[in-house]
Amino acid sequence: MSLRLGDTAPDFTQESSEGTLNFYEFLGDSWGILFSHPADYTPVCTTELGYTAKLKQEFEKRGVKAIALSVDDVESHKGWINDINETQNTSVNFPIIADQDRKVSTLYDFIHPNASETLTVRSLVIIDPNKKVRLIITYPASTGRNFHEILRVVDSLQLTDNYKVATPANWQEGEDVVIVPSLQDEAELKQRFPKGYTAVKPYLRLTPQPNRD
Ligand code: BEZ
Repeated sequence: MSLRLGDTAPDFTQESSEGTLNFYEFLGDSWGILFSHPADYTPVCTTELGYTAKLKQEFEKRGVKAIALSVDDVESHKGWINDINETQNTSVNFPIIADQDRKVSTLYDFIHPNASETLTVRSLVIIDPNKKVRLIITYPASTGRNFHEILRVVDSLQLTDNYKVATPANWQEGEDVVIVPSLQDEAELKQRFPKGYTAVKPYLRLTPQPNRD
């Protein structure tokens, strides 16, 4: 059965470039980004993992831990990490799971047999501190992911979990947000959004991002 939004992220223990790793212990109370890639020693994946390493401070700021996965073995991961560090001018600072037996890939639906019988696809799952799955994306092998978009989704999730708002198309941190349509009580609207709001339509109400001055 495939993994869906709102599901509890499956726990696992598997070998990784940083030793045997239990996923829930690794995550602790943090948010998590688990992302699969088709194979080690491939060009797009090399740039993706290098870029993720460079975003370490951005992930830390948001309380997010990254963890990568492919079906290659630990020795392959370790050799490839040297290449990533050398070519991407960084230092890989997160574990890469060595999912040779496809245990984790099966739990997380990272093998799409019509794309490849054996290799993982380019998927990414965001997991919240309650271990719930909040985002699932799958990209073609030929297209590297945009990790700024992943950070943007984390920003949106962390904001909308705490305020009765949602974020519109192409929203970036600091821009106006929309008030959830279920909130109709005038007194509550005033209390929650003291800066006011603009009702473009009754269902489309824009307000300044509530957690900013
Ligand atoms: C890559 O990461 O560069 C890649 C992986 C599989 C197929 C094509 C490209």
